Amino acid sequence: MHVLVTGGAGYIGSHTCLELLDAGYTVSVVDNLCNSSRIALTRVEELCGKKINFIELDLLDMQGLSQVFSRHPDIGAVIHFAGLKAVGESVEQPLRYYQNNLIGTLNLCEAMAKHGVKHIVFSSSATVYGTPARLPIQEDFPTSATNPYGRSKLMIEEMLADLHISDQTWQVVLLRYFNPVGAHPSGRIGEDPKGIPNNLMPYITQVAAGRLKELNVFGNDYPTIDGTGVRDYLHVVDLAKGHVKALEYTQKRSGVFIYNLGTGQGSSVLEMVRAFMEANKIDIAYRISPRRPGDIAECYADASLALRELGWQTEYGLTDMCRHAWNWQKNNPEGYPPSA
Ligand code: NAD
Ligand code: WQD
Repeated sequence: MHVLVTGGAGYIGSHTCLELLDAGYTVSVVDNLCNSSRIALTRVEELCGKKINFIELDLLDMQGLSQVFSRHPDIGAVIHFAGLKAVGESVEQPLRYYQNNLIGTLNLCEAMAKHGVKHIVFSSSATVYGTPARLPIQEDFPTSATNPYGRSKLMIEEMLADLHISDQTWQVVLLRYFNPVGAHPSGRIGEDPKGIPNNLMPYITQVAAGRLKELNVFGNDYPTIDGTGVRDYLHVVDLAKGHVKALEYTQKRSGVFIYNLGTGQGSSVLEMVRAFMEANKIDIAYRISPRRPGDIAECYADASLALRELGWQTEYGLTDMCRHAWNWQKNNPEGYPPSA
């Protein structure tokens, strides 16, 4: 089957393209490269010895998008990663986030409907659970949002569910990721944040590389095992495999399918720092800083539905996540080289 991957040059998208190609899918990627590099896809091609049909395009370009489907009438499903994802930036620039994430998705769905492609796998986030009342988090927990990024995810989830109500032949999959980290074991593709990283793992690897002086641990007075925030970190390769499983399971089923993708295990910030130091035999300088506004104390998944229905569960552990993250950073200290 031919799968269109939006945002396929990005962190999770590039790893998913590799898994799709390895599983025998034909892959086209639409990406405007606003937060990624074309080189990621060249490396994916090198890793699997197969080609990707890359189209540099903004999802806001409705006409261009429609052309992609008319030129490739064999596209049978879409995995939709394309979006802006920085929480803090979304608070400062809400209209840009709504414009890009909502209108981009609207355009995509319109083009899909027009060309009779009704199978979509969407990158949602654990952020849609807001501050959960209980742990671990199950898919039927109440949803809410505290920032424009999270709200855009929730709105898109609802929009896609409405689409299925209006036409029940739509196959809608909402994958709620917990905290993806790590990189492909080859060290050829990985996370390449622009500027100072917002997320914990890339910050740690940049401290390890000497690019940043020390990690700021945002708060040590949360009601958690050691006072620091607890999250459910999962290896990006496991996450990528989850997309292939979700695509396969929903191939012949219509409906709205919602899955948590996580390990089911919470780890604190200090546990992550220790795991990184032990896995890589490198010291990470850190200091305790004030809490980051908007952070919650604890968040981890009940991922048993994905296991029951998709037959998916994570295989990599914290040591692999830390080792592979460092392997990527070490081999690519400045991220991907500038495109030629
Ligand atoms: P990323 O920024 O590396 O990838 C997103 C890709 O989308 C980039 O390649 C970017 O260039 C592209 N893009 C953005 N807007 C576009 C547009 N209008 N048209 C075409 N391309 C566009 O991010 P990622 O970490 O790989 O995340 C992928 C998806 O998963 C995002 O939707 C994100 O919100 C979601 N998600 C990520 C995380 C995480 O921690 N990384 C967690 C939960 C959900
Ligand atoms: C993890 C823990 C921080 C950086 C965010 C988004 C979410 C999803 C994933 C994507 C927290 C602590 C972090 C640092 C720290 N996004 N931390 N020092 O906040 O769980 O989730 O990314 O699309 O929507 O909100 O992930 O990696 O930022 O933080 O102490 O420099 O690490 O306080 O406890 P988070 P994170």
